[in-house]
Amino acid sequence: MAEGAVSTAEVAAAVRVVPRHVFTPGLALERAYANQVVFVKRDEFGVPTSSVSAPDIQAIMLEQAEIRPGMRLLEIGSGGYNAALMAELAGPDGEVTTIDIDPVVTERARRCLDEAGYADVRVVTADAEGGVPEGAPYDRIVVTVEAWDLPPAWIRQLTPHGRIVVPLLLRGMTRSIAFDRVDDHLVSRSARLCGFVKMQGAGSRPDQGLALNHGDLTIDTDDSGAIPTAAQIEAHLRHAPRAERWSGVRVWRWEPWDTLPLWLATDFPGYCQLSVNVPGAPAVPGPPGAPGTEPLEPALAIATPAIATPDGFAHLTARACPDGRIELGAHAFGPQGPQLAAAVADSIAAWNRDQRAGSGPVITAWPIDAPLPDAADVLAVKKHVQLTVTWSKPEIPHRSQPNG
Ligand SMILES: C[S@@+](CC[C@H](N)C(=O)[O-])C[C@H]1O[C@@H](n2cnc3c(N)ncnc32)[C@H](O)[C@@H]1O
Repeated sequence: MAEGAVSTAEVAAAVRVVPRHVFTPGLALERAYANQVVFVKRDEFGVPTSSVSAPDIQAIMLEQAEIRPGMRLLEIGSGGYNAALMAELAGPDGEVTTIDIDPVVTERARRCLDEAGYADVRVVTADAEGGVPEGAPYDRIVVTVEAWDLPPAWIRQLTPHGRIVVPLLLRGMTRSIAFDRVDDHLVSRSARLCGFVKMQGAGSRPDQGLALNHGDLTIDTDDSGAIPTAAQIEAHLRHAPRAERWSGVRVWRWEPWDTLPLWLATDFPGYCQLSVNVPGAPAVPGPPGAPGTEPLEPALAIATPAIATPDGFAHLTARACPDGRIELGAHAFGPQGPQLAAAVADSIAAWNRDQRAGSGPVITAWPIDAPLPDAADVLAVKKHVQLTVTWSKPEIPHRSQPNG
């Protein structure tokens, strides 16, 4: 596990006790205890569908969950190892149920749990869309598979003050969010960057994003209704020259700036994420030297924050600074490219001034038919829930945060 990944004595103790190699049969000991995901199943296209998650993200999520002895727990997505950690945290008076849609996975989890001494963990084979009513209500639900939505059964099966920790897909980005139940809705307490295999079954994601330039580029959003079509974005990309604006905001490459995408998604209804699938792919395919055929320069190799509107397309970009940091800026295309690049650069500067040092926004999940508070910022609308976002106001009038 990476140094510093575990910050509570309880989770550290559970990690020390549970023999991870029992849940990764056939792997060399060194590999079983490495801070790496172990993929245990793939679909016909080679895409992983089941894994024993990397120890770091398991520890992070268990710490988000704040499991206490005696709690009733539900894990969604089985593998055995994480359920055993949960059993350690809940102690002899607690109760752990784990559910997986795949019988091969549950058969394996059952065998490994028995071998490691966790025969008391209940293993269920079913689609988790309906939760597991037999063990409800749960003090904690820990979802270990990327969820697009929050089915009503999960909320209903929580105790009145229960907590669910869930890797939730929001406008193309995934965050492990710890939500506390408050009456009929959920209020976030923390959100951490993560990546998981995708939910299958009734809760699987309905849209798959947009492919541009014959698949060289992908635009990811779980709210594709709010952004233009692939053909419109391709037309923006052909609209040379591209506009460039720098924000003056510098970050270290290793520094987490994961609240910035959420900030941009709050600011711009057309927020999405750009992935360049072919390294060096240009905005416009064509003979070298023709307008627009210079390579795109997204800030990240995959899932760069981007904005698509009827009048333009912008993505985050970065340039190296002499001090080793990178400066964030925007490249934009289309008839309104210069204005869009300026708006994105200004938004990055506002994030830097007011939110960069903060703990991030509060995300609230409301039932789909609930009236929303006045002036709520809607982040995403799913089948079962609508998600709003609230940013704290800066407490003291800021001078701009030192950058150099
Ligand atoms: C990352 S793995 C779980 C890792 C596990 N918790 C561990 O101990 O490392 C995700 C699992 O979610 C399962 N899954 C996907 N969709 C599901 C659904 N609708 N209901 C239940 N399980 C599902 C997959 O079969 C897969 O085994």
